Amino acid sequence: MSQTVEIRDLGSHVGTEITILGWVESTRAHGKVAFVDVRDGTGSVQGVVVKKEVAPEVWDRHAALTQETAIALTGAVRAEPRAPSGYELGVTGLEIVGASVDYPIQPKEHGVDFLLDHRHLWLRSKMQWAGLRVRAEVEQAIHDFFYQRGFVRIDSPILTGAIGEHAGSLFETDYFGEKAYLAQTGQLYGEAAAAAFRKIYTFGPTFRAEKSKTRRHLTEFWMVEPEVAFMDSAGNMRLQEEFISYLVERALERCKEELKVLERDTSKLANVRPPFHRLDYTDAVAQLKAKGTDIEWGSDLGAPDETALTEGLDKPLFVFNYPKIVKAFYMKENPADPRTVLCDDCLAPEGYGEIIGGSQREDDLEKLLAGIRAQKLPEEAYGWYLDLRRYGTFPHAGFGLGVERTVAWITGRPHIRELIPFPRMMTRLRP
Ligand code: 4AD
Ligand code: MG
Repeated sequence: MSQTVEIRDLGSHVGTEITILGWVESTRAHGKVAFVDVRDGTGSVQGVVVKKEVAPEVWDRHAALTQETAIALTGAVRAEPRAPSGYELGVTGLEIVGASVDYPIQPKEHGVDFLLDHRHLWLRSKMQWAGLRVRAEVEQAIHDFFYQRGFVRIDSPILTGAIGEHAGSLFETDYFGEKAYLAQTGQLYGEAAAAAFRKIYTFGPTFRAEKSKTRRHLTEFWMVEPEVAFMDSAGNMRLQEEFISYLVERALERCKEELKVLERDTSKLANVRPPFHRLDYTDAVAQLKAKGTDIEWGSDLGAPDETALTEGLDKPLFVFNYPKIVKAFYMKENPADPRTVLCDDCLAPEGYGEIIGGSQREDDLEKLLAGIRAQKLPEEAYGWYLDLRRYGTFPHAGFGLGVERTVAWITGRPHIRELIPFPRMMTRLRP
């Protein structure tokens, strides 16, 4: 066996004999010339087997290959402009590493339930490979963005004793005789850390017992949540538009091949840069009414409302200052209109809807307490959080961006379940 090379590096081995370790995607034979497409996780390449140029056992082994057999394929690398990878392999050797019999996913249409049941195998498919590689790039870009700006990454707990967001969607577990909840958000801990490090972000899985089966709800999703001391709501929106623009730019720059596989029309992302569109909630309701919906001031915006508001937009839209009654207890009351809070939802175009929820936080102890009581949250669980308003309270703001929704929008995939390796939904805990 010659030197093992990853398919993405074939370009620097033209004219030499190398070995690829990977899995069989497909095979074809035309008389005395046969082909094998092999995938190694970094890319795919076609091997060409010429009967009179290889040992008889190599020809026979090729003829018996089945989909997803693990193989070691040896051959000379040739430039081949017609091949998608730009190269092909003139096969000289073929060894079987691991057999594969009756691979369940065939090159034909399968129902989505079947594919989700076989998610552990479905991951190997080209579209899934491409989508999850974009996710990995976006996650790296998230860390780079905040690192470059001097934010400190803070790991917030997953097991928590207080309700982070709202009481409706909690996963509860027994914690040595006490009730614990899986974190809905890292935010409250992020606020504590902002007073210690000024600019922080948390990044991790968050959990919500969502009973809705929509294309944009998971029960376990990943969220990045920056929190900044002495930043107000307007500064928060500026940080969000810079952040999202950076993520989109990174994906466009570094995931060209993946976005091509996904058939993403990238022209739809070309104008995603600051400033984003901005619309006061009250104006949003007026706009929706003008479009003929029956929404009333005081109700939350649903997915169809978000789609209507972003119709035809070339970049995301901030809807800001929602009514207090539809938002979480920790948001700062708007001094100009106390029926509302200083918050924003960032809505992605093309029907993707809310990808960020953010706000300035209530820094007044009495108002925060009133909010906790109004939402009938257990006051005693928030003692430590209220301390932040007792000892040097300070204006601060932050937001949470959902990774799966953001990557679904960037990749143009219709359902966010494809943008997480092993999705958790109301009706799915396996694989
Ligand atoms: O708007 P949310 O609930 O905000 C918070 O959790 C705040 N604590 C964030 C903060 O200010 N630090 O959630 C934030 C984002 C949403 O905009 C959405 O992108 C995503 O998290 N999200 C979900 N993604 C997938 N499945 C779900 N069930 C989601 N719920 C929220
Ligand atoms: Mg929200």
